[in-house]
Amino acid sequence: MTVEKNFVRSHVDDRLYSSFIEHLGRAVYSGIYEPDHPLADEQGFRKDVIALVRDLGVSLIRYPGGNFLSGYDWKDGIGPRNSRPRRLDLAWRTIEPNLIGIDEFVDWSKKAGTGIMGAVNMGTGTPKEAGELLEYCNFSGGTYWSDLRKKNGHPEPYGIKTWCVGNEMDGPWQICHLDAVDYGKKARETAKIMKWIDEDIELVACGSATSLMPSYPEWDRIVLEHTYEQVDYLSLHRYYENHGNDRDFLASFVDMDRFIKSVASTVDYVKALKRSSKTVYLSFDEWNVWYQQKQTRFDWEVAPPILEDQYSLLDALVFAGLGITLINNSDRVRIACLAQLVNVIAPIFTQKGGPAIMQSTYWPFRDISRYGRGSVLEPVIKAPTMETVYGDAPVLALAAVHQEDSRELTVFCLNIDETETHQLDLALGSFGDITMISRQELSGKDRHAKNDFSMPDRIIPKSLEPVQGSCPNCSLIIPPLSWNVFRFSYS
Ligand code: AHR
Repeated sequence: MTVEKNFVRSHVDDRLYSSFIEHLGRAVYSGIYEPDHPLADEQGFRKDVIALVRDLGVSLIRYPGGNFLSGYDWKDGIGPRNSRPRRLDLAWRTIEPNLIGIDEFVDWSKKAGTGIMGAVNMGTGTPKEAGELLEYCNFSGGTYWSDLRKKNGHPEPYGIKTWCVGNEMDGPWQICHLDAVDYGKKARETAKIMKWIDEDIELVACGSATSLMPSYPEWDRIVLEHTYEQVDYLSLHRYYENHGNDRDFLASFVDMDRFIKSVASTVDYVKALKRSSKTVYLSFDEWNVWYQQKQTRFDWEVAPPILEDQYSLLDALVFAGLGITLINNSDRVRIACLAQLVNVIAPIFTQKGGPAIMQSTYWPFRDISRYGRGSVLEPVIKAPTMETVYGDAPVLALAAVHQEDSRELTVFCLNIDETETHQLDLALGSFGDITMISRQELSGKDRHAKNDFSMPDRIIPKSLEPVQGSCPNCSLIIPPLSWNVFRFSYS
């Protein structure tokens, strides 16, 4: 891998390291909010969870859904708690007690050091209701909805700048699913209302729910033909799971890369069609490993344990490959949300009344969020490949991010080879006198090992001795099935 300081691919948007909390399962209730917990603060928020979210350095949190969004009336979640309705949530067959709504979530997000990516309901919701939510959140005062926010204890507007116009509206599972033309028209009219209320906001239109949808990428083209001038981003969602072949699973990042490039091409086709000078960027606002085949059905409970996947070392390595791919596509992908954050397919896992632990995927997310900010460099890479269901995959997935202000360089390296150690020859000559300052590795003998409440640190990165001396050219040993973070400083 040859890295040249001045060959900059992109400057990472901080929102690349965002996440997602949906009113789903135990994400909110007994995830972030558990008033009876010994570590709950005065508002009932778990302080242990807040500390972990802070440690992860999450930029925005997409809220409140997800599939839940398409049946949600945001007005149920404001005002005095004792008069809020309990509602059926048809998306997940649960009961929503509405104890947490936008006002409480804004309070929580401030404590957790994150911003919010808002979302408006394009299922049962109307463009008018979307405008009212925005007025409630962002208008300073002197109108019905903004004054109601003040009356509810929040004198200052929330200033939520990034909004999703619906969620996965192409999916037949979605409440009030629409076809591409109907969604395109509804999204366009909603976007007009929203931008008239606050011209500083940025909007995300729903792209295909996954690249596996039969309507992909036609859905994306048609939606954008209706909304191109009104929206700023098109969404991508994709989850990966192990279908029984570890090698294919490990190469998931190859598929994600292809998906991103295909959507970018579709967007640019519409740009050409419209003779537009504007570029619509991408918001990969749901990505993760998710064992969808293992889902169980629940019937009308409050906060049942839905989608509580437990992640192995292998899952964390696949996850790291997806993270590298987002970094390397950050010229086009400006926003990305790890779906989700707490309990529901999440890096943070809580026990009701008990501790909160870090799942294996916590660590690669923390690494990219901490060290993946700055300028992504365009390296020259020569790596052996292996054959997978996605075609030839490089055995080493790599990314280099330059932190100009602190004169540091981070190299991320994933070895997906199941048996072979590989030597990474790094050529960093353009950085002059450069020294390795830290070296961290996530690996292990048992790829299926997971963290749990009895052994919460089974999967945890280890710090290794950095290579000594000046390192314009160094050779590094990369063990099989390992995720590595090398940090350098130059004078
Ligand atoms: O993240 C879980 C679910 O996955 C979300 O609710 C939905 O948008 C997607 O299908």
